[in-house]
Amino acid sequence: PRVAVIVVAAGSGSRLGHILPKAFVEVAGRTILSRSLDPVFALADAVQVVIVAPADRLAEAEQLGSDVAGSASAYLTVVQGGATRQESVARGLAVLRASVQTVLVHDAARALTPTAQFDAVIDAVAASGRGAVPGLPVSDTIKRTDMLGIALETVDRSELSAVQTPQGFPRDQLERAYAEAGHDATDDAALVTEAGFPVAIIPGDPLAFKITTAWDLRRAEQELQPATA
Ligand code: CTP
Ligand code: MG
Repeated sequence: PRVAVIVVAAGSGSRLGHILPKAFVEVAGRTILSRSLDPVFALADAVQVVIVAPADRLAEAEQLGSDVAGSASAYLTVVQGGATRQESVARGLAVLRASVQTVLVHDAARALTPTAQFDAVIDAVAASGRGAVPGLPVSDTIKRTDMLGIALETVDRSELSAVQTPQGFPRDQLERAYAEAGHDATDDAALVTEAGFPVAIIPGDPLAFKITTAWDLRRAEQELQPATA
């Protein structure tokens, strides 16, 4: 396959505060990881799917992946995650097949991301030869504060984007960025930008929100099973 999707699912979910690692928590009857794989296996073209899972859940991730894959023509690889998201992505990068030229990195925690968002990222990378990252405009007024919590200036929000995943890149650019990474970043685009490659922001989708807190989990449940009036 020419495209690979690395789904990072090795985090503990400390902010969610569940006994299970976040990707294995259920939302409306199916795990977050399982739901996050739906749009990946719905892609029209064959892709290599790499699930990065906690060390003690590799078999479970493998089973879950093949259940969702069904008869879809996909290549599934499961690898053990690292201590940080960045390390987890690096471990996914290490098992890419030789034919892969475009790499998407996706948070399992964005369990409701529509297939169209994957297609848009793949198309944008193919058309531009650059990284492409979905983002949404910021609607709140954003303020910088000092160490005591006193408001400093208001940041011009017209210049800001709240970015999501999947983030897609030409493989060589992402590999260079990871090889040169000097510090820990919370997304892949930061490293690619620092390596000197331009990354475009394309329109995101509110449904690609990240399940981070218990409130987000309730919201995801609402989206999947709306209360009947
Ligand atoms: N992730 C990972 N390996 C890590 C840390 C995070 O694969 N060492 C993954 C998570 O599983 C998640 C995605 O990166 O799908 C985004 O991270 P985040 O939402 O921060 O998840 P957690 O790190 O698990 O949550 P928290 O920060 O609240 O502990
Ligand atoms: Mg985290």
